Amino acid sequence: MKKVIGLSAGRKHKVSETVIKAVLNGMNEEAIKHEVISLSGKVIRPCEACNGCVTTNCCILKDDFQPIMDRLMDADAIVFGAPTYWDRMNGKGQAFWERACFSGRHNSLFPLKNKKGFVVAVDGIGDGRYMVRDTKLYFEDARVKYSGDIAVQGEYACFTCNYGNQCEVGGFIDLFPLNPVITKEITPSPENQHPEKNDHRLKRNILPEAMEKGRQFAKEIISATRD
Ligand SMILES: Cc1cc2nc3c(=O)[nH]c(=O)nc-3n(C[C@H](O)[C@H](O)[C@H](O)COP(=O)(O)O)c2cc1C
Repeated sequence: MKKVIGLSAGRKHKVSETVIKAVLNGMNEEAIKHEVISLSGKVIRPCEACNGCVTTNCCILKDDFQPIMDRLMDADAIVFGAPTYWDRMNGKGQAFWERACFSGRHNSLFPLKNKKGFVVAVDGIGDGRYMVRDTKLYFEDARVKYSGDIAVQGEYACFTCNYGNQCEVGGFIDLFPLNPVITKEITPSPENQHPEKNDHRLKRNILPEAMEKGRQFAKEIISATRD
């Protein structure tokens, strides 16, 4: 049976993780086993370039990285999701991929080579471009085959910090003028994309689309085995 790992570098149970789960649920009709690993609460240090991985292709830093990497190696495909922080993949996600790419490349091992990868790209405005750009670079380096993506508007932490609707340097003002009361209706979520835009086509639930992309990805994984 094929195995897919969903790997989330976002907050626990928040947008990246929720959409990854929807993509994985879309795979349920195919003979695919799936599980989600959240990096939230895990310690993933950045690469120290210590060369401790040169002979074994295993990172010698003692934290949560290597056991998760081992699980990815054992999978056929990866659904990777992370938020955009400061117009790039967040630090947790980057720390993970720095180490995956560096520890894997010695002696041209590339332990994730030819696995398929799907990207869940989350940010405050629903653009997705920076996360897709950065993940593609890491996928390329790790020899993971990029198989598509979904861009999702997430919830800026400003919606729950209690000051977001008064704050001139937060993400809230990217979407709304200051001062309105923050309600569920104006808070972006996977089920409520683009509440800031007065366009019912954009104000949609993205989870069915994520499931459909998962369904297609599952078909691709299964048919690759037959080739
Ligand atoms: C430190 C930080 C920086 C952020 N930078 C950006 C940014 O540059 N562009 C953007 O659109 N969203 C930015 N965001 C918003 C996040 O991408 C958004 O909150 C996302 O939903 C978080 O994903 P999660 O819900 O899976 O944790 C930032 C959030 C934080 C906490």
